[in-house]
Amino acid sequence: MRRAAITAVGAYLPEKRLTNADLERLVDTSDEWIIERTGIRERRILGRGKGSAYMAIKAAQQALEKRRMPADEIDLVIVATVTPEHTFPATANIVSHAIGARKAWGFDLEAACSSFIYALSIAADSIAAGRVERALVIGSDKMSSIIDYRDRATCVIFGDGAGAVLLEPTDEPVGVMDYMHQADGSGCAYLHMKAGGSLLPPSVRTVRERLHYVYQEGRQVFKQAVVQMAAVSEALMQKHNLTAADIAYFVPHQANRRIIEAAAQRLGFPMDKVMLNIDRYGNTTSATLPLCLYDYEGQLRKGDNLILATFGGGFTWGALWLRWAY
Ligand code: ACO
Repeated sequence: MRRAAITAVGAYLPEKRLTNADLERLVDTSDEWIIERTGIRERRILGRGKGSAYMAIKAAQQALEKRRMPADEIDLVIVATVTPEHTFPATANIVSHAIGARKAWGFDLEAACSSFIYALSIAADSIAAGRVERALVIGSDKMSSIIDYRDRATCVIFGDGAGAVLLEPTDEPVGVMDYMHQADGSGCAYLHMKAGGSLLPPSVRTVRERLHYVYQEGRQVFKQAVVQMAAVSEALMQKHNLTAADIAYFVPHQANRRIIEAAAQRLGFPMDKVMLNIDRYGNTTSATLPLCLYDYEGQLRKGDNLILATFGGGFTWGALWLRWAY
């Protein structure tokens, strides 16, 4: 059976660090509150003059270099992002051009924090169906471009970063094995950006009223994230008769350490089987999952079972069973 396997992972994190001490100077918060309520110590910030494409290009180039794969052998590029370089054209086109992926077609996929897992699923299906040979799936978000650094409930959570995976076909029983995704549009009320879209285009009023930033009702999102991330992971594992003992690592979206711990507990995963890097990067939205794979790559062995899981704005959520291929 033909499947899509991840054969390389790349990442890019901006140099500049925004620490909890820095945030203490911007809003009424404390290092203690942030660590206790979110598990985050610092995040990376890209700064002015560069956008999501810059980080996506760096991450993609690193993945290709690791595999010594010429960019013109790539057929499909999907960029998962909620902070595209422009409203149009797609960031994927800018990335393909910059890296020299001359024969690739591509597009951006936006499903808030579920963007990467959805994109990985679509790319894997395209390869499994034989439509595509090699694909790059990149999660890249410059969250600092849509965060209100006067809103203490959101500015402590988010950071910038990118991760990229190279996908290739395989006949071995490794790679993307299965996935289950869901969405519920009623969640829009709790997590969204009010202006900047076609409903409320940018105007003096929208800027003055600070409507171009992430709006979040944290408590509602928190509850749903724990319940749904655990439920969808459990359903996927049950479908394939997998227990926590069969899984090398649970790879959860890095939104809040407490969400991760609660979901892991529901699923029976001890914390040493849970990928965690939220302390160093915060919530990088579309980049959290590939950044986890990047950070833990050295500890993974061929055949290891991973359960990736995510929850985000929309609401959108899902889980993906991945068998590590190298
Ligand atoms: N420092 C100090 N106090 C704060 C801060 C802060 N940075 N932020 C909020 N507080 C205060 C609140 O004002 C509130 O005070 P009050 O009781 O006097 O009103 C108190 O802390 C508790 O507020 P809660 O919102 O209940 O705090 P909670 O423990 O829920 O933590 C948080 C807030 C971190 C936002 C949490 O709810 C969370 O992580 N939610 C989910 C985030 C998430 O998963 N997002 C989805 C992905 S994002 C995407 O898809 C783009």
